[in-house]
Amino acid sequence: MHETIWSDAMFKPLSSTLVQLYERHGVEVLSSVAPLVWVTLATHKDKPPVEPPNDRLFTYLYVDDRMVSNGGGLHMTEVYLLECLATVLSPERIFIIGNAYGWSTLGLALAFPKAKVVAVDDGRAFGSRAGIDWTNRTAKTEGLDVTVVSGSSPCDVGRIVRVRLSPARCRQLRHG
Ligand SMILES: C[S@@+](CC[C@H](N)C(=O)[O-])C[C@H]1O[C@@H](n2cnc3c(N)ncnc32)[C@H](O)[C@@H]1O
Repeated sequence: MHETIWSDAMFKPLSSTLVQLYERHGVEVLSSVAPLVWVTLATHKDKPPVEPPNDRLFTYLYVDDRMVSNGGGLHMTEVYLLECLATVLSPERIFIIGNAYGWSTLGLALAFPKAKVVAVDDGRAFGSRAGIDWTNRTAKTEGLDVTVVSGSSPCDVGRIVRVRLSPARCRQLRHG
């Protein structure tokens, strides 16, 4: 009886699925202490404020020991938050501003597998232009409903959402 209850409650964490996806595609994932923990420690009232270590909070992605983008990705605790949200929300459409190298885009697509996910990036962060192609290619290989486009927020947001995410357009894409 206990075994049944616990085996029903066990699942593979989204963070582990996401890390494994990146590793399958030759990308190593490194993450830091949780940003909120860092801010709490760094601004303790009895101590002088401290800069974050090497200016590297959040999650960073590496190929052959080289960082592929300086756009810091969601921290692991934030990936866990997505996983919790997925137990109460089931969005059909998700729009993301800031793709960098796809970490939150692919994380959201894995957390909400029924959603159509569209992300926009204007390429200002190092590696984020290459990140558009890499994310689109990887999502396709992984069978995820993800499209990343080049564009700038806020001026391109209305057009991209209308073209890529309007309910009519989604129905048309779904039914051919
Ligand atoms: C912090 S990174 C995003 C990280 C991403 N959310 C993740 O978890 O992997 C910010 C990204 O937003 C892009 N960006 C910044 N300002 C933008 C804007 N106004 N419009 C579109 N993209 C923007 C940058 O090029 C960069 O790739």
